[in-house]
Amino acid sequence: MATKRIRSKIRCATGNGAVASHSLQLSAGFFAGVLCVDVNRGGQANHRQEKRMKIGIIGAGQIGGTLTRRFTQLGHEVFVANSRGPASLAALAKETGAKAVTAAEAARAGEVVVVTIPEAKIPNLPKDLFQGAPPEVVVVDTGNYYPRERDGRIQEIEDGTTESRWVERQLGRPVIKAFNNIYAKHLLERGRPAGTPGRIALPVAGDDARAKQVVLRLIDELGFDGVDAGALDESWRQQPGTPVYTHDFDAAGVQRGLREAKKERTPQWRASQESPGSFAKPA
Ligand SMILES: NC(=O)c1ccc[n+]([C@@H]2O[C@H](COP(=O)([O-])OP(=O)(O)OC[C@H]3O[C@@H](n4cnc5c(N)ncnc54)[C@H](OP(=O)(O)O)[C@@H]3O)[C@@H](O)[C@H]2O)c1
Repeated sequence: MATKRIRSKIRCATGNGAVASHSLQLSAGFFAGVLCVDVNRGGQANHRQEKRMKIGIIGAGQIGGTLTRRFTQLGHEVFVANSRGPASLAALAKETGAKAVTAAEAARAGEVVVVTIPEAKIPNLPKDLFQGAPPEVVVVDTGNYYPRERDGRIQEIEDGTTESRWVERQLGRPVIKAFNNIYAKHLLERGRPAGTPGRIALPVAGDDARAKQVVLRLIDELGFDGVDAGALDESWRQQPGTPVYTHDFDAAGVQRGLREAKKERTPQWRASQESPGSFAKPA
């Protein structure tokens, strides 16, 4: 790939609210591959030094449950929802101190709202989910399209729309794609303080620079390096089947993986006539 070198100054908010400037090169204009390193913080992955945020989490399964645990441990105020209603989340609420709410309440409660439900269930969310939520709310999509194992066919994605652009259209709000490429268990257990050699890095794609910075900062608090993976239309670079998917690379590895990703969906990641099967027996 031809490399167009553009010197650019990117400002990365650091873990203690300070701002560090990084000089970097943009490769062929497709993504900025920015590692936001917290230069002022040698602290623990569990030490939150940002302001306490209100965070809505829609989906309380493997990823939603993990983020509920980690964000509450960090001192954030979490509002968590599932499809069965708040009563079914009593144990998680008791364990973590999160507030169990409906999906609509979670969407309106958060400065950041993480939507983390199976792709096929996204259209089941209320159509007016974000009605009344301020426009500056940061919406995060953790989703992945598993046509053979779980989701069945979603034609727009089969036709080339990125998974998160499709989610964004369903939700009617811009989204940031993050947390989709790491196993929930690793997200729970493998956070490390900034500066730890081999610290796992997570790619973050989206069109709104401010929203992306908010997510990059939360990722650092959770104990991971954030890598700016460019605009949402580039987010295929972190979808299932790409080099960065589930491989726990450090920042340099994620940047390389994003660069080397191939856009074509391989048969494993396309719907078949029988989709969906199950994880045990993909169709
Ligand atoms: N598991 C991982 O390691 C992992 C890693 C990265 C990304 N992801 C992706 O993240 C997304 C979530 O995965 P997961 O593994 O956390 O899923 P999961 O364990 O199956 O949990 C799904 C959650 O979504 C909730 N939900 C379903 N429909 C809903 C609706 N209409 N309204 C509100 N809540 C609803 C479910 O609530 P009920 O139980 O009440 O139905 C459940 O709490 C998927 O797209 C997945 O591919 C997963």
